[in-house]
Amino acid sequence: SKPVVAITTQLIEPAMDKLRTTCNLNIIENYSSPQELVEKAQGCEVLIVSLSDAIGEEVIGPLSAPQTSSLKLICNYAVGYNNIDIESATRHGVMVTNTPGVLTEATADIAFTLILSASRRLREGEKMVRDGNFHGWHPTMLLGRELFGSTLGIFGMGRIGSAVARRAAAFGMNIQYHNRKPVKDSPHQWVDFDTLISSSDFIAICAPSTPETRHRFTLDTFNHMKRTAVLVNVGRGEIIREKDLAEALEKGYIFAAGLDVYEFEPEVEPALLERDNVVLLPHLGSATDTTRMAMAQLCIDAITSVYHQGLIPSNCVNYRPDQEYHT
Ligand code: GLV
Ligand code: GLV
Repeated sequence: SKPVVAITTQLIEPAMDKLRTTCNLNIIENYSSPQELVEKAQGCEVLIVSLSDAIGEEVIGPLSAPQTSSLKLICNYAVGYNNIDIESATRHGVMVTNTPGVLTEATADIAFTLILSASRRLREGEKMVRDGNFHGWHPTMLLGRELFGSTLGIFGMGRIGSAVARRAAAFGMNIQYHNRKPVKDSPHQWVDFDTLISSSDFIAICAPSTPETRHRFTLDTFNHMKRTAVLVNVGRGEIIREKDLAEALEKGYIFAAGLDVYEFEPEVEPALLERDNVVLLPHLGSATDTTRMAMAQLCIDAITSVYHQGLIPSNCVNYRPDQEYHT
C-alpha cells in the first residue's frame, strides 16, 4: 500500500514523478486559510509543506485528531522549520522532518554571491553598463571593499556557516564566529557578539530563526559595526530588524548589505528597495536542480522510514524518547 501524502506546492518534475510512484499524492495548489488546508488535506498521513506554509495547532490538531488520527509526519521542504509549531506537532505525536545537509553548499554559494556582489557594487556596475553610462575605465569609479586579508564574522556556525568559512578561507579572509557556545573542534575563533559586530569587515548571518536570534541585529548593532562593513543574511529574515537596516544603510553606518531572506517575507521593507547599496535576492539559497531534488529525496526517505519501516527518520527534528508517535 501507498501512504496518502498531501503536498502544498509543486516540486520539480522528477521529484513529483518519484512522489507519484511512491505515494498517493494529493496536490493542494493553494488554500486561503488553515481551515481550508485542513479540509483539502483531510485524511493525509503525510503533509509535505514549504517554508511559506505556516503550520500551527489549527492545522496539526484537526489532521491528527483521534477520530481521523491520520497525520503521522510533516516533511518541511526546507532546513529551517520556524514555520511549524514543533511543540504542537510533538504533543500530537506527529513527527516533523527538515532537509539538513543537502542545501548547505548551495546556500553557502548564495552567501558568497551576496558578499561579492554587495562589496564590489555589482548592481550599480551592471546598471551603469546597461544604461549606457560606462564611458571608460576610471581610477575612482565604483570602488568597493576587498575580501583578501579582511575578517569575516559568521553569526551561526552550523553546517552552512562552516561551508561559508571554507569559501572565505580560499579568498584569503580571516574567520571568526559567534554562536551561543563555541563549536567543538571548530578550527575558527569564537568571539562574543559585541566583538563579532565591532571587529568584522564582513558579517554573514547563517543562523536559524529562534527566540534568541530574532531581532539580534538592530540599529544599535549596525551603529557598532565598522562604517566599511558589509552584512549579508542567508539565515532567516527575522534576525534583522529590517527597518533598522534600511536606516543604517541610509545613514552610512555600514557600507553595504545583501539579503536572501526577509523579516516579513515575501514583503520587503520599501526603504530597502530605494537603496543602491543593498543586493536583494528572492530567497534563492537552495535554488539549484541538484539541491531541490536532494531535498525531495529526503522527504521521500522520511516517508519510507515512517510508513514502511516504522522507524524514526534521522532528520526528525522533534524526536523525544518519552513521546509516542503515530507510525
Ligand atoms: C531555506 O531557507 C531553508 O530553510 O531550507
Ligand atoms: C543548517 O543546515 C545549518 O546547520 O547551518
